[in-house]
Amino acid sequence: MRVVILDEKSDVDRRAGQILAQQIQTVPDSVLGLATGSTPVGAYNELLRIYEAGEVSFRDCTTFNLDEYVGLPPDHVQSYRHFMQEHLFGKADFEPTQCHLPCPNIAQLDESCEEYEARIDEAGGIDLQLLGIGTDGHIAFNEPGSSLASRTRVKALTQQTRTDNARFFESIDEVPKLAVTMGIATILEAEKILLLATGENKASAVRDTVEGPISASVPATALQLHPKATILLDKPAARLLARKDYYEQVEFIQRELEQNDALNHH
Ligand code: GLP
Repeated sequence: MRVVILDEKSDVDRRAGQILAQQIQTVPDSVLGLATGSTPVGAYNELLRIYEAGEVSFRDCTTFNLDEYVGLPPDHVQSYRHFMQEHLFGKADFEPTQCHLPCPNIAQLDESCEEYEARIDEAGGIDLQLLGIGTDGHIAFNEPGSSLASRTRVKALTQQTRTDNARFFESIDEVPKLAVTMGIATILEAEKILLLATGENKASAVRDTVEGPISASVPATALQLHPKATILLDKPAARLLARKDYYEQVEFIQRELEQNDALNHH
């Protein structure tokens, strides 16, 4: 896992937006795995800034979001479909038919989950998967205890997740109890993974994810099994990491190597 510690949240936003833009500039028909929550909003804003500067186009991209609440209509202000429209899709040249979110068909939930997996396969798999992290170490809506071999399915949300997400709703009673989510095995199949975590309230989940044993009790620890997973942190989120100095040293060497490599090509 590549651990990158930056000073502030705004640095994480900028770096993440640039990584996303670079992916699309290099492979214009990239398949992106996208995330919701408050964390990726800054990265999307940076990506939109790059788009507005005319340096990237999403015309040929395909996107798959991680998850969606069960029981909210797609135009509900808290549905993830609405979130993506507001924060990204509606502000740039995405092809709407190429932007996928799980679409929970209450009558046929199993079929809609299988269909989502099939669509990802048909698109050739995800090139770059963006992730946030819950305060309990969940990724997407893979709550603690989720099988590390799980695929897209319906999950009941924990009280912790519903409490954390209640800030977006009028009250906790309005937060749905179920969601459809990509599974951990689905996420691990992405070619590259970029996890963003900022703020003090993510520090213990980050420590467990990076330095704890791999365990279904902290679903994000599964990322330790991925060969190309990067975690971008601000200083408060990195606060509890025991090997912080080492990650900073490795990153310094890595940046130097990249710079030399860039020089060698000019
Ligand atoms: C929800 C989402 C996750 C997200 C998490 C953290 O549970 N399903 O994908 O990572 O919230 O959200 P935030 O970034 O707002 O802290």
